[in-house]
Amino acid sequence: MSIPRHVAIVMDGNGRWARARRLPRAAGHERGVERIHEVALACARRGVEYLSLYAFSTENWNRPRREVDGLLRLLSALMDRDVKTYVQDNLRLRLVGTVERLDRAFQEKVQAAIDLTRDNTGLTVCIAFDYGSRDEITRAARELAAGGIRPEQVTEEVVSQHLLTAGMPDVDLLVRCGGEIRLSNFLLWQSAYAELYFTEVLWPDFGEKELDMALDEFARRSRRFGSLDSGGSS
Ligand code: IPE
Ligand code: IPE
Ligand code: MG
Repeated sequence: MSIPRHVAIVMDGNGRWARARRLPRAAGHERGVERIHEVALACARRGVEYLSLYAFSTENWNRPRREVDGLLRLLSALMDRDVKTYVQDNLRLRLVGTVERLDRAFQEKVQAAIDLTRDNTGLTVCIAFDYGSRDEITRAARELAAGGIRPEQVTEEVVSQHLLTAGMPDVDLLVRCGGEIRLSNFLLWQSAYAELYFTEVLWPDFGEKELDMALDEFARRSRRFGSLDSGGSS
């Protein structure tokens, strides 16, 4: 069975999960964050190399301050709690996004977690935090311009190297939970040829079984990348 090297997930539906149980939205976020480790381990066991998780978008700053603060606290708890087990489980943590809007202590915590798992050789878990594709591409363009690059030196490769995902392979499989059929500004450049998989399942209910359904579907797809050859499926 062909396994995607890079799986990206839009972890959506926390609020609806909570509402269905008459719980505050924060309870949905809490449950959602708890899901991350299980799904990461399942991906690692199946041979996935990169798992990118959309945790907080540049647009999510438009939510009420209380919800934003709650999400930040949960992410901070993830750094404290899960990262220790990341070391044991040979998972590497990476952040795609910016930490500029976080307070200094939080930034240091994130950096410490990344450093702690730097030498691990298993699955790389990329948390997309304060991430937005348009912001990412705009920053890359700005960086290139500031570096005084000549027009003919601007290649797809060079642009890729200036994105937050520099060095990572393109997304093979992009999963969105929660029933919405849109990308919401997630990894647009990197998903140019990703297989898209949408499910009604809400992220707090997403587990190994749902992951396998997505992987099975991926293995059945015929990936042609614009050619006529449907031989390879990865
Ligand atoms: C996804 O769940 C988590 C974040 C966007 C941070 P939502 O909070 O968007 O949940 P719904 O879409 O309202 O159900
Ligand atoms: C996308 O979910 C962002 C994350 C999952 C972090 P949203 O709930 O913010 O997306 P929209 O508003 O439905 O597009
Ligand atoms: Mg949502």
